[in-house]
Amino acid sequence: MDAAGLKIESARAALGHVEDGMKLGIGTGSTAEAFVRLLAERVGAGLSIVGVPTSERTAALCRELNVPLATLDEEPSLDLTIDGADEVGPELALIKGGGGALLREKIVAAASSRMIVIADESKDVETLGRFPLPIEVNVFGLRATMLAIEAAAATLNLNGSLKLREGQGGAFLTDGGHYIVDASFGRIPDPRALSDALHAIPGVAEHGLFIGLADLAILAGPSGIRTLHSNR
Ligand code: A5P
Repeated sequence: MDAAGLKIESARAALGHVEDGMKLGIGTGSTAEAFVRLLAERVGAGLSIVGVPTSERTAALCRELNVPLATLDEEPSLDLTIDGADEVGPELALIKGGGGALLREKIVAAASSRMIVIADESKDVETLGRFPLPIEVNVFGLRATMLAIEAAAATLNLNGSLKLREGQGGAFLTDGGHYIVDASFGRIPDPRALSDALHAIPGVAEHGLFIGLADLAILAGPSGIRTLHSNR
């Protein structure tokens, strides 16, 4: 089975956790998209849920497939969020934001009682950081913020290049109107320390380290589904 097929299998397994009446956070990315397509079939067959999308892209797909939506302001407490990830590390710490939706994804996950991560098993890593860490930054003062990120990372012995993400016809802009800086640190042995250091920088809107948010990861591989539980 190819990577696309594995994503569908992990999305299918996550659908088993969705119950009638749930308020559901809905992630962003290709695996989350596979989930939305399966969810839409269940909704078509009578399942009653309301979804809160983590991006305009996911919202558009849900609307196209008639998945009922609400804003997070209308439904500020969610039962479950189902989302993809770029890396799944120890204790279900994640790197997210490859699709540029990390700020809304984190706000929605934090507003949910539970978060389930869906991915193919290639996302499972022993140490986070091979995937460049997306950092969402304010447009104002970009260069100063990038210097501050470099300095904060250096205090943790993390060195690596920072790259402003490109979009179509210029810098990529998030749904919130921010830039994304992708930080290639290679290894992030202490994600919490890096998270704290990045949060202390005023120009950083949010970063793609998701710590203590995921409860369960459903990883699909050629030999089947593997589930990882958080130790919380
Ligand atoms: C979106 O911003 C990301 O956090 C995605 O969840 C992540 O990039 C995983 O995407 P795929 O499911 O496409 O691999």
